[in-house]
Amino acid sequence: MLRLLLIMIALLAAPAAAQDIPVDPFSGLKMTGDWQIVMGNCIACHSPKLITQQRGTRDQWLQMIRWMQEKQNLWQFQPEVEDKILTYLAENYPPREDQRRAAVPPHLMPPNPYAPPTQQPNRETDNAGQSL
Ligand code: HEC
Repeated sequence: MLRLLLIMIALLAAPAAAQDIPVDPFSGLKMTGDWQIVMGNCIACHSPKLITQQRGTRDQWLQMIRWMQEKQNLWQFQPEVEDKILTYLAENYPPREDQRRAAVPPHLMPPNPYAPPTQQPNRETDNAGQSL
């Protein structure tokens, strides 16, 4: 009985422990792993909230970094620095169940019945189809 109780306590405590990572009061980043490398490289241009509210797989984080490098003047990283940043982001800000799903691509959407007509209306008839 005692053993069962201990197992239950351990099971209850385990997820709590994972959430007990302290948060840096300045940046809001979880203070674990290479968080200081992320702080040193990722908060110069925008609020750290842009990072902490975002979620993604390692690959998705990499795509965001590439986009910023291409479009937003983000500097290039040494491969080992980039690896540490990606590991930190993917481990601490992974995709979530309760996250808003990604947008449905336009070609998978049903036709929009309220879309404006793509052609000029036929002016030989009125809106009810009667000859003018
Ligand atoms: C050189 C400037 C710069 C640096 C440094 C920078 N970013 Fe950004 N980042 C931007 C800009 C500009 C945007 C677009 C902001 C906006 O839309 O208001 C952005 C947007 C983002 C977004 C939002 C992307 C989206 O799809 O909404 C995330 C997440 C992000 N950055 C994470 C990071 C991370 C992680 C790092 C460090 C590796 C970083 N940023 C470093 C310039 C930078």
